[in-house]
Amino acid sequence: MTRSKRSKTAETPPPPQPRVLVLHGPSLNLLGLGTPTDMPPVTLSGIHAAMEARAKADGVIVESFQSNHEGQLIDRVQAAALEEVGFIIINPAAYTHTSIALRDALVAVGIPFVEVHLDNIHAREPFRHNSYFSDRAAGVISGLGAHGYMAALEFALARLR
Ligand code: DQA
Repeated sequence: MTRSKRSKTAETPPPPQPRVLVLHGPSLNLLGLGTPTDMPPVTLSGIHAAMEARAKADGVIVESFQSNHEGQLIDRVQAAALEEVGFIIINPAAYTHTSIALRDALVAVGIPFVEVHLDNIHAREPFRHNSYFSDRAAGVISGLGAHGYMAALEFALARLR
């Protein structure tokens, strides 16, 4: 190999793998850790493992982050902009109905996102019917349980292709 050919190869690193960030708000760390049932419990680590495996098939990295603290979720959203995260999937949990600050962070970074809820928030108490995120989301999935995260991921993978 000539010197010029070798240096040309060195100058062409592989393209960075696309990244999806999955954010979970307060108390979602408790998912599946309650009363045992006959069904295998749905846990956050189980959801993450399924999403990671699906994304890997498309060469996409999935990172998950759960926090009970609004500021930590905001910091994670801001960091995502520097990490060139291409898509966010977020279940803001109770912050859905309260957090203008987390909404503002998502709008500020401009990373497209899908809002996911395990339950159908419109079939629950009236105070859950308003979301500070839905009008800025690419889409909202509510009531499909853990399938909602996988549906959101399929959408994200198609967008990142
Ligand atoms: C939730 C719905 C919210 O109203 C609630 O506060 C949650 C979970 C859901 O995934 O169904 O914490 O976001």
